[in-house]
Amino acid sequence: MIELGVNIDHVATVRQARRTYEPDPVIAAALAEQGGADGITFHLREDRRHIQERDVEVLMQTVTVKTNLEIACTDEVVAIACRVKPTWALLVPESREEVTTEGGLNVVGDKGRIRDAIEKLKGEGILTSLFIDPDLEQVQASADLGVDAVELHTGPYALARGAAQTQELRRLIASGERTSELGMRLHAGHGLNYANVRPVAAIPNMIELNIGHSIISRAVMVGMRDAVAEMRRILDLVA
Ligand code: PXP
Repeated sequence: MIELGVNIDHVATVRQARRTYEPDPVIAAALAEQGGADGITFHLREDRRHIQERDVEVLMQTVTVKTNLEIACTDEVVAIACRVKPTWALLVPESREEVTTEGGLNVVGDKGRIRDAIEKLKGEGILTSLFIDPDLEQVQASADLGVDAVELHTGPYALARGAAQTQELRRLIASGERTSELGMRLHAGHGLNYANVRPVAAIPNMIELNIGHSIISRAVMVGMRDAVAEMRRILDLVA
């Protein structure tokens, strides 16, 4: 059975729009667990645009399934990961201007920095995963660093249509095959939604998918009617 990691960053994004206390990603994580999440993913970005350090601290105390802390390869967040000890640390590239993580890590070209981060994390008993494009050289470079998993970037697959999408799926399948041959766990994520997830879940040896945007979007929609009805009831009790 494919494991489902639910990324709750967007819940914190809505909260930060008002710099207030709701919606709380900690409560969202508990509800995601009730819905069947096998893991909770949260990205502590350098610019703290959504998840805050306090969220990380509280999530580490309250999440009962696996925790997957997404971080860049910087001393600051690697030190935080080493202190809070999530089940997994997922290393990603990060730039301030991006709306979301844009591409995979360049493991081939940036081995030294990534190796330093991995050694520190492994030293604390944290499982390590690298977010990479579905590229055989990046898969090999990841294996050379001794990581436990790679997460293949499914963003281009999600954006492509028709024959181009089939081609992107083939790249994912080829990189997935090499990943498991090299003894690493196969994860994937980015841009997956209710319509496009099945072929990715069916990739041989796929173990875990990490999904955020589409689940949070669906949660807003399926919750809208009840949320309005609740406010309606309060107003109906006045006067
Ligand atoms: N994996 C990684 C490395 C990500 O950065 C993200 C987005 O935060 C996801 C998976 C989930 O992507 P989406 O929100 O598009 O489902």
